Amino acid sequence: MTGLGMPPATDLPSHPRFVSLEGGEGAGKTTVLNALGDALQAEGLEVVRTREPGGTPLAEMIRELLLDPRHEPAAPETELLLMFAARAQHVREVIAPALARGAWVISDRFTDSSHAYQGGGRGLDPGLIAGLERCVVGLQPGLTLLLDIGVSQGRERTRGRDLEFAGGAPDRIEGERDEFFERVRATYRARAAAEPERFRVLDASRPAAEVAAEAVARLQAWRSRA
Ligand SMILES: Nc1ncnc2c1ncn2[C@@H]1O[C@H](COP(=O)(O)OP(=O)(O)OP(=O)(O)O)[C@@H](O)[C@H]1O
Ligand SMILES: [Mg+2]
Repeated sequence: MTGLGMPPATDLPSHPRFVSLEGGEGAGKTTVLNALGDALQAEGLEVVRTREPGGTPLAEMIRELLLDPRHEPAAPETELLLMFAARAQHVREVIAPALARGAWVISDRFTDSSHAYQGGGRGLDPGLIAGLERCVVGLQPGLTLLLDIGVSQGRERTRGRDLEFAGGAPDRIEGERDEFFERVRATYRARAAAEPERFRVLDASRPAAEVAAEAVARLQAWRSRA
């Protein structure tokens, strides 16, 4: 199998108020993001809730380009570079300024998604992805929650929800086969195992309230670390 080789451990700076949520389709990232955001805001903290690909007007336009099923499929390399183009803009326009003014930033997906989807899923070179991460992103979350769920269970949850594109087509990535998502899941788990200080893996097959409560508890434990 290609794409599961681990990139060299990154030594990028991480930020203690930057949290990312990762996981496959329907894992519950958006649901957990809202629980974390509400918990921090209840303490009067400023929280920026954002998502990838996207998070700025230009990056959201890149997201549309990437996911729109109406044009020819993007080559894997094109997809990778557009993801990083969007991320470069997101970091500079939204994430770095928010962290600099003292806000918390919670992002629904960040660079681990590129390792999992474009690396594990599409089979692109993990070293290339790590190089882009170093050169154009230059920042890691302090804490990454991986919402781990079986592929079919996750996809079942998203079935029937509003489709993003006119005509009801699934987006480019949602339209992939289960084998693709199995590679994505395996890559996420391998990354979490390789970076236990940054990652927490949550069993996301449980009811939403349980997963959200554990996510908030993990965040609070991490904040109160020595
Ligand atoms: N633990 C859970 N148990 C059952 N249903 C859930 C759970 N978490 C979320 N859901 C529901 O499953 C659907 C997908 O959840 P959500 O949108 O949070 O996942 P996601 O990881 O953000 O998905 P995507 O990758 O497609 O954005 C929603 O309808 C949500 O209400
Ligand atoms: Mg979501």
